[in-house]
Amino acid sequence: MAPDERASTAPGVLSQRRRGESVPDDPGALDVAALERRARALLPPAVGDYYAGGAEAETTLREAPGAWRSWRLRPRVLRGVSAVDVATTLLGADVRTPIGVAPWAYQALAHPDGERGTARGAAAAGALMTVSTSSGTALADVAATEPAGPRWFQLYRLHSPAHTDDLARRAGEAGYRGLVLTVDLPVLGRRLRDLTNDFALPADFPLPNQPLHGSLPVTGQPPWTFDDIGRFGDVSGLPVVVKGVLRGDDAARCVQAGAAAVWVSTHGGRQGDPVIASAHALPEVVDAVGDEAEVYADGGICSGSDVLTALALGARAVFVGRPAIWGLTTGGADGVSRVLAGLTAQLAHTMALCGLADVRTVPRDTVTAAR
Ligand SMILES: Cc1cc2nc3c(=O)[nH]c(=O)nc-3n(C[C@H](O)[C@H](O)[C@H](O)COP(=O)(O)O)c2cc1C
Repeated sequence: MAPDERASTAPGVLSQRRRGESVPDDPGALDVAALERRARALLPPAVGDYYAGGAEAETTLREAPGAWRSWRLRPRVLRGVSAVDVATTLLGADVRTPIGVAPWAYQALAHPDGERGTARGAAAAGALMTVSTSSGTALADVAATEPAGPRWFQLYRLHSPAHTDDLARRAGEAGYRGLVLTVDLPVLGRRLRDLTNDFALPADFPLPNQPLHGSLPVTGQPPWTFDDIGRFGDVSGLPVVVKGVLRGDDAARCVQAGAAAVWVSTHGGRQGDPVIASAHALPEVVDAVGDEAEVYADGGICSGSDVLTALALGARAVFVGRPAIWGLTTGGADGVSRVLAGLTAQLAHTMALCGLADVRTVPRDTVTAAR
């Protein structure tokens, strides 16, 4: 287990001002790459590789951040913008930032507080948290940690359809506000770092949402189809978000089948490789979906300008995986909230520089392809 780094260093300004950690008077001084280096130094190498790594040659993983930077901002001037509003709604839930926490597995490997720490950090930042099926904390216990914090539950296809349905039902009962079906994992991606490291969870690692330890996904069970979108909506009583969509035609079919939102994602470059970057798939998905559903994106987002690019391309919100992982590793709940507040401050700053006042109405012509 990684200790809480802040607790193990002497208190004072110096420890707060190391690169990668935002300082109190400027949360936007966050440097995600430096934070990752600090986190990796705290983690056992195989755990750090599990979090940081991707599939096969890791082309998708490597290209993701650069794909956001293949767009350039087109600032507006003289628009009389004196304040920037970063609050929005996600499937009707109020959030103070359009930057949410993506679902990620096994959080107690990063910090003893695990998912509870992430829940507290997200709530402190006014951000939405997505709780993974592969959580080390039962879904009802994460919900009880921050009952008012908006959160969604992410569902994988598990060892039995009955158990998968039961999880969906319990998410609805526990106050989750959305059910995220992760559809880009028909089989597990081939992650060479994990194979080389022989990465395995400790035998006693709790997986309360997956009573058959590590049992996903199971071939031989019926694969999911578009029909499952409406069915899981009925079972859970929740709006359904389909995560892992990279094509316009798929996005349109998801919406026709009843999805309330589509989440453009390459699973952090951990499934297919090489696949199209979220930043390049997003415009096609937005065009296909129109106003029929919300669209989100993730993958390689590590600055406020990346977020603004995604919003300009039509995303209503973005999600971060690894930046939150490095935040939890280095500082528990505070570390998570510093990452979310830091990215949000960077977003507001960049919007001010671009003459934009409201995250809900970022025009498409705010960005253009880099030349
Ligand atoms: C260590 C790790 C574990 C993940 N676990 C899950 C998961 O349990 N369910 C899921 O839908 N996505 C999972 N993802 C994918 C994330 O939800 C998200 O799509 C991705 O991390 C976004 O890219 P980023 O890390 O560059 O921000 C995981 C990603 C990482 C890095």
